Amino acid sequence: MPSSPTPQELLYEGKAKRVYRTADPQVYLCQYKDDATAFNAAKRGSIAGKGEVNCTVSSHLFTYLAQQGIRNHFLAQISPTEMRVKAVTILPIEVVIRNRAAGSLCKRLGLERGLPIEPPLLEFYYKNDALGDPLITHDHIRLLKLATPEQVHQMGSLALKINQLLRTFFRSCRLELIDFKLEFGLDPAGEILLVDEISPDTCRLWDLAGENTSEPRVLDKDLFRFDLGNAVAGYQEVLQRVVQQVE
Ligand code: TMP
Repeated sequence: MPSSPTPQELLYEGKAKRVYRTADPQVYLCQYKDDATAFNAAKRGSIAGKGEVNCTVSSHLFTYLAQQGIRNHFLAQISPTEMRVKAVTILPIEVVIRNRAAGSLCKRLGLERGLPIEPPLLEFYYKNDALGDPLITHDHIRLLKLATPEQVHQMGSLALKINQLLRTFFRSCRLELIDFKLEFGLDPAGEILLVDEISPDTCRLWDLAGENTSEPRVLDKDLFRFDLGNAVAGYQEVLQRVVQQVE
């Protein structure tokens, strides 16, 4: 692994990571933490090894997506819990894609958990903790000037393309990608690129071995959110499957 640059000023500390400036103004350092929160931090805890799992899984997935032509902020993993990324301005929008009904979609629309969604559903949320990250429409995005209509269109089509690529990747790890959340940023030239992380914190992943059983075998943050089982073991299993698939 490349050596770790000395982190400088702490730019941002979120629920799951810290972002530092480095000596290079075009590079930030992301440190992934074991801290876990759910329901806008109403539930707090920690998942041992989560920082390492999320950093390593994200590094593998960003590398795979870059190979498939999806520009993203990833530069290099420099320790089990740290990666160097391109310095970008993050758009305050969370882009969610759903292939089956789960989580807040079931709650909002009364759908049965596990219902297949074809074609996949695309949603936008306003990244704003004080408001509880509300679901927003294109017109809300325009009203709040969060992004231009062209940027919203670009994020939507990139997210659908990333969904196809990630579904294929996870299928080869015997995992089904139920839904996931992406974030995008603007580079200094104003071009959109994929940022943040892609991990069991931000994806729902069910074991494909249990595909035809009534209760899915959950291997993601829902283990923590809803006390469904051993989150530490679930995260480690995702890590092992992703790393072995790539080797
Ligand atoms: P939801 O069903 O709770 O809306 O979540 C949809 C997907 O987005 C799920 O894979 C988890 C992910 N997600 C995040 O990564 N961060 C969040 O803050 C939330 C609410 C969901």
